[in-house]
Amino acid sequence: MTGNLKTLHRSAWKCPSNIALVKYWGKRDFQKPMNPSLSFVLQNAFTETSVELHKNGDQKVAFYFDGKPGPFGERIEKYLEYVSCKLPWISKYNFTIFSKNSFPHSAGIASSASSFGALALCLTELDFSFSGRETASADFWREASELARMGSGSACRSVYSGFSIWGQTQLFESSSDDFAIRLTDGVSPIFQGLRDAILLVDSGKKEVSSSAGHQLMEQHIYQRSRIAQATENVNELYLALISGDQQKFVQVVEAEALSLHAMMMTSSPSFILLKPNSLEIMNRIRRFREKTQIPVCFTIDAGPNIHLLYFQGNELDVKAFIDRELLQFCEDGNWIDDRIGSGPQPVTI
Ligand code: DP6
Repeated sequence: MTGNLKTLHRSAWKCPSNIALVKYWGKRDFQKPMNPSLSFVLQNAFTETSVELHKNGDQKVAFYFDGKPGPFGERIEKYLEYVSCKLPWISKYNFTIFSKNSFPHSAGIASSASSFGALALCLTELDFSFSGRETASADFWREASELARMGSGSACRSVYSGFSIWGQTQLFESSSDDFAIRLTDGVSPIFQGLRDAILLVDSGKKEVSSSAGHQLMEQHIYQRSRIAQATENVNELYLALISGDQQKFVQVVEAEALSLHAMMMTSSPSFILLKPNSLEIMNRIRRFREKTQIPVCFTIDAGPNIHLLYFQGNELDVKAFIDRELLQFCEDGNWIDDRIGSGPQPVTI
């Protein structure tokens, strides 16, 4: 397809999706968060993207998803136009972009974090090569995170391994609303073995997009208390992560998931994304925890699917519980077996 194009530069990256434990919900200015958020990257849910720059023809962006002309070309063209204020070389080239996800498109998993993460990493690598800068530097990841944020807020947390924080917080001087930072030191080894069973309740199209949900926070009656709560929850969760406090982790993570959905239910207009099967799974997770004292909990994004979080040491018990009690509430029994991940990687092309 691109055989007769004179390729000047290319870059390809694999970038994971991430799941927020403290949720980003509400924006200020352009793609800046109303509150800080904290997440970890997944290992098995990722996007692989390659970018080729050339000067042939007059189509600015040719975008292929799974090898076929994809539907997101227009959004990517707008994005490139926007980030060209930071990367002026963008205006000199046309782009051929190939992208694919490791998870099915219809799984109801948001792919914007991994997609914009992968694209931003390609752009950052090209930018560093044009300016002759060393890619193995903290600047590289910061630039990638900032460019990813401009495509989709949560994407800025996908360019690191393990846990990261996006948004200004008193915990770290280096934290910023412009990019995420990686939580490097001090996270207890117990959290390095975190597991995420993504229970796919409903793959249908969401009734309300995340963008519309973020917008509703602008006039939300609970806006101020939500910002205070998320800020406090980032502090509490960080303390739990460094002290290895699983009980605290469980408590904060579930409170956050419920608070996100409470914001949706109390916005104007309001909306409900949880399904009866989502509630059934949430209740069963709580009952299982009470009965067995095994530290499991749920988190949920802006949709009906439930992420069941648990620890490596409890894998056998939890998987038996999923089989026995939860799969009956998943659409066609579908779920994704995932875990905390080792972050993005360049792809050899
Ligand atoms: C509920 O990052 O998808 O998943 O910035 O408009 O692209 P845009 O929104 P997006 O919002 C994600 C919201 C969330 C919580 C989170 O990931 O922190």
